[in-house]
Amino acid sequence: MTSSAPHGTYDFVIAANRLPVDQQVQPDGSTAWKTSPGGLVTAMESVMKGREAAWVGWAGVAGEAPEPFDDDTLRLHPVPLSTEEHNEYYEGFSNDTLWPLYHDVIVPPTFHRTWWAAYRRVNERFAEAVCEVAAEGATVWIHDYQLQLVPAMVRDRRPDLRIGWFDHIPFPPVELFAQLPWRAQILRGLLGADFLGFQRADDARNFARSCRAVLGATAKGEKVEWTGSDDGRIGAAPRTVRAAAVPISIDASGFRELADSPAVRERAQAIRASLGDPEVVLLGVDRLDYTKGIRHRLRAIGELLEEGSIAPPQVTFVQVATPSRERVEAYRMLREQIEGTVGRINGDFSHLGDTAVHYLHQSYGREEMAALFQVADVMLVTPLRDGMNLVAKEYVTARHDGKGALVLSEFTGAAEEMRNHVYLCNPHDITGLKETILRAINDSPEEKERRMKALRRRVRTHDVQAWASAFLSALASAPERPTRKEIR
Ligand code: ADP
Ligand code: G6P
Repeated sequence: MTSSAPHGTYDFVIAANRLPVDQQVQPDGSTAWKTSPGGLVTAMESVMKGREAAWVGWAGVAGEAPEPFDDDTLRLHPVPLSTEEHNEYYEGFSNDTLWPLYHDVIVPPTFHRTWWAAYRRVNERFAEAVCEVAAEGATVWIHDYQLQLVPAMVRDRRPDLRIGWFDHIPFPPVELFAQLPWRAQILRGLLGADFLGFQRADDARNFARSCRAVLGATAKGEKVEWTGSDDGRIGAAPRTVRAAAVPISIDASGFRELADSPAVRERAQAIRASLGDPEVVLLGVDRLDYTKGIRHRLRAIGELLEEGSIAPPQVTFVQVATPSRERVEAYRMLREQIEGTVGRINGDFSHLGDTAVHYLHQSYGREEMAALFQVADVMLVTPLRDGMNLVAKEYVTARHDGKGALVLSEFTGAAEEMRNHVYLCNPHDITGLKETILRAINDSPEEKERRMKALRRRVRTHDVQAWASAFLSALASAPERPTRKEIR
């Protein structure tokens, strides 16, 4: 117990595996900072703009961490990861154990005790860093599956802090979660928080059911009552933690403004022209991840080309795939499969000057993304499982012309909010997916505009600021914590 741990000066502390910026080593050995990949950073970067806070996270390169530094109003506090920890905590336990387990075991999760030990060790380090920067009574907002032990570890050291955790990815049904050899420790880690936020009510329910089944906790509605009786470490007295849905979103007004700028509009026209001014542009934008359903999407596109339902140059498909977790075997295999399939499709259906599938394994700036969205007559968002999917929300926000159509998988968090106005699909059903893509291409402009209007309204009124306010007010109104004395 370290209640005498040194206190910092920040009243608001973020902890996420990644800092908002990633240190990149250039070919000449020099370093540069780049926005970190993924939806977590997209959302939190806009929430934190102009706020005084500390952000605790990894700087993206294994080895010694840079010294803490200021980035506008944020104090960035890098946490080091050794090469071994990068392998075992980040690539291993986070992305080869938890990520597949939490995404419907699309690929089999790998369980290694050494990875678990590294996960615990790195979570301890994050907890220590949080305690070092947090002022007395500060609010601490911990993010995502990489840091599930941090809530209890922070609470143990600093009972004065108000601790929230948000799950950016799905929380699995207990039948899958129960496979995890360290399931009880993960749940106990999370129950150190005062409030737990999830993307969907189903995720919150899955968590509550796991607490009941694994820990013997009492779960009623959004409340999980935990006695701590199985190890006596946290909460010898009963305590109640609320677990509820708070769906994340995007900075709708910022993105709309960007998409509406003359530079982005011009760029959109230039992109369309460089594609040969096709009648229909289909677009996919994803991290290159097996959860995103890119293989299923390509299968559908390949069959549509084969049947002659679509053909270049009238119809072309652009797939942007951000490089991701490239040393993890499942990601390596996925890349090989995708690139093989794209090659085969283009070999069979492209002609000189008319490409069936444009495949870009690169990441781009926000302006380029906004321009690409404006070019897309049909946006294909077909994950097999996705916590939310911010690309879907960015797409409709970028369509200030009210045109375009969104094909969206029912297995995304976004479908909970958008299902009535998207072209909803089950990506496993290739025949159904093909029909849905054709419907999205061929529906009347009036029908598409009607749908797009409703989608844009939804994202505008449920933006990232609304999400952050909802999360923080739920955290602020969480029941008062018992004092340290009552806990022990
Ligand atoms: P995830 O968090 O799983 O990657 P999301 O769809 O929620 O998925 O968020 C992805 C974020 O990354 C979005 O803001 C999207 O615009 C951005 N993004 C995706 N692909 C690229 C790319 N190739 N270049 C730049 N940004 C990208
Ligand atoms: C998703 C996760 C984030 C993660 C991001 C990028 O959005 O929810 O926690 O940061 O993907 O993945 P990476 O492994 O590159 O951090």
